[in-house]
Amino acid sequence: MKKTPATIVVIDFGAQYVQLIARRVREHHVHSIIVGHNVTPDEIREAGAVGIIFSGGPKSVYEEGAPRCDPKIVDMGLPVLGICYGMQLGCDLLGAGVKSAESREFGRTGLEIVADDALLTRVPKETSVWMSHGDIVKQLPNDFVPLAKTESCPFAAAKHRTKPFYGVQFHPEVTHTPHGSQILHNFVYDICGCTGDWQVANVVKQGIDAIREKVGEKDRVICGLSGGVDSSVAAAMIHEAIGDRLSCIYVDNGLMRNRETDLVETAFCQHFKVDLHVVDAGERFLTKLAGVTDPQKKRIIIGHEFIDVFKDEAKTIDGAKFLAQGTLYPDVIESGHGLGGKTANIKLHHNVGGLPEELGFELVEPLRDLFKDEVRRVGEHLGLPKELVWRHPFPGPGLAVRIIGAVEPEKLAILRAADDIILEEIRAAGWYDKIAQAFGVLLPISTVGVMGDDRTYAGQHVIAVRFVESTDFMTADWVHIDHEILARISNRISNEVRGINRVVYDISSKPPATIEWE
Ligand code: XMP
Repeated sequence: MKKTPATIVVIDFGAQYVQLIARRVREHHVHSIIVGHNVTPDEIREAGAVGIIFSGGPKSVYEEGAPRCDPKIVDMGLPVLGICYGMQLGCDLLGAGVKSAESREFGRTGLEIVADDALLTRVPKETSVWMSHGDIVKQLPNDFVPLAKTESCPFAAAKHRTKPFYGVQFHPEVTHTPHGSQILHNFVYDICGCTGDWQVANVVKQGIDAIREKVGEKDRVICGLSGGVDSSVAAAMIHEAIGDRLSCIYVDNGLMRNRETDLVETAFCQHFKVDLHVVDAGERFLTKLAGVTDPQKKRIIIGHEFIDVFKDEAKTIDGAKFLAQGTLYPDVIESGHGLGGKTANIKLHHNVGGLPEELGFELVEPLRDLFKDEVRRVGEHLGLPKELVWRHPFPGPGLAVRIIGAVEPEKLAILRAADDIILEEIRAAGWYDKIAQAFGVLLPISTVGVMGDDRTYAGQHVIAVRFVESTDFMTADWVHIDHEILARISNRISNEVRGINRVVYDISSKPPATIEWE
C-alpha cells in the first residue's frame, strides 16, 4: 500500500492563486494537494488530510452558482483555514447566518491583530496584508472570535469558538503579505500538527517505492529523454528504483543546440550507466521539414516524426511494459485529474502523447505529485548535473521554431553558433539563473551592412536575441539586462558567426508577443 504523507488538502473554489497556496505549504515541508470543490469527506480522509484550506474564488458566496462544498467538511474535526472567499464560505457553512457585504479592498492594507491566537502568533500586532476582494463578512455571531481587523474590514481574521475553523480575508500565500508565510506556518505546524516530513529525501524515497510497487520485479520501463529537466529527473528516479531495467531513448532530431546530445550522453551513459539509445534521426526530420514555412506545420511534422522514430526504437527493446512520462503536478491539476472534479482549464500536453495507447504501454509518472521547483531539488538529490537540473526550458520542436521560415542545415549551423555565444556570455556574466529563457532567433532577411570596405547584403541574416523573465511562461517580460552584456554578444556574433551582419534585441513582452517567434 502506498503510504500517504500527512497532507494539507486545498479545496479550489476558482482561485487565481490556488497553486501558489499548495506551493507555499510545501515550502514549509508539508505535503499539499489541490482538489475540486466536489471532493467528499471520505476522499479527504483517504488523501491523508491533517488540515484543509478553502481557497479564494471570484464569486460571492450568495451569488447563484457560487461553488460550495459538502457542509460536512467543516465538521470532520480537521482544522480548516478559509482564505478570502473560503473564509466567507466557511462562516456560512458554520451557520454564522451573516451576510457578506460589498466592500472592495485591493492591494496592501494595514492590519491590526485584536486577539492572541495560534494562527497569528509571531506576527507583529500591526502589519500589512494583501487584500483582493469585493465582499467581506460584515458581522459575526458569538460563535466566532475576531482575531484581526483592517480599516474597512472588521473581521480580517476570525476563528470559530468551538470548531477548528479559521478564516482570513487577506491572502497569506502571496509575498506581498510580509508575514503570510508565518501565518501558513502557524496553521500547518501549530494548528494542524504537521511535523515537516515533506523533505526531498522522503519525496525521493516515496517516489522510488511507488515506482517499484507499480513496475514489479521483472518488467522493463522505457523513458524518452529530451534533454530537459522533467524527463531527466524522471529517468534518474526510475533508474534509482529499478536499475538496469530502465531503457532510455533520446531522439536527436537534428534541431538541438550544440552539445545537447553530449550532455545527455555524459549524464546518463557515463554517470548513471543507463541503457541509453541515442537515435540519430536528424536527416529524417530535415527531409520532412524541407521547404516547410508554416510554424504549426513544422510542429505537426516534428511531432509525428518523433512518434515514428520513437516507436521504431522502442520495438528494439524487449520486455518493456511501461513508458515513463515527466508529467508534473500542475499538468495533473490542469487536466482535471485531481480529486473532486476538474479544478482548472484543460490543457493538452506531452511530446509523447499518443504513444502509450499505440504501443500498449502502461504509464509510469514519477513526478505527478511535484511542482517544477521540487523536481529540480529531486534532480539535485539524485546527483544529476547542475547544468541539466537548472536549464531553461527548450521547446520540443527545438531550433525549428527559432528559424523563421524554412529550416535548412546552413541556417541551423548559424543559429547554433549564435545561440552558443548567447548562452556562454550570460553564464559568464552570472545572468543565466536570473533569466527564464534565453535564446537567439534567426531572421532570414538580408539587411545592408558593411564589413571592411565592402557593403554586405546577400547571404547575410539577422539574429534576434531574446531574454525573458517569467514564472509560468503564460506571461513574460523582456529582461532589462546590462547593456555591456548585449554589446559583447553582438560583437562576438558579428565577428565569429559567418552569415550574420546584424544583431537586434527583442523588447516585447507576452502578451502581446509570445516567447518564441514562431
Ligand atoms: P510561447 O512562445 O507560446 O511559449 O510564449 C511558452 C513556452 O512554451 C514553449 N513552447 C513550446 N514547448 N513545444 C514545446 O514543448 C512547442 O511547440 C512549444 N512552443 C513554445 C516556449 O519555449 C515557452 O517556454
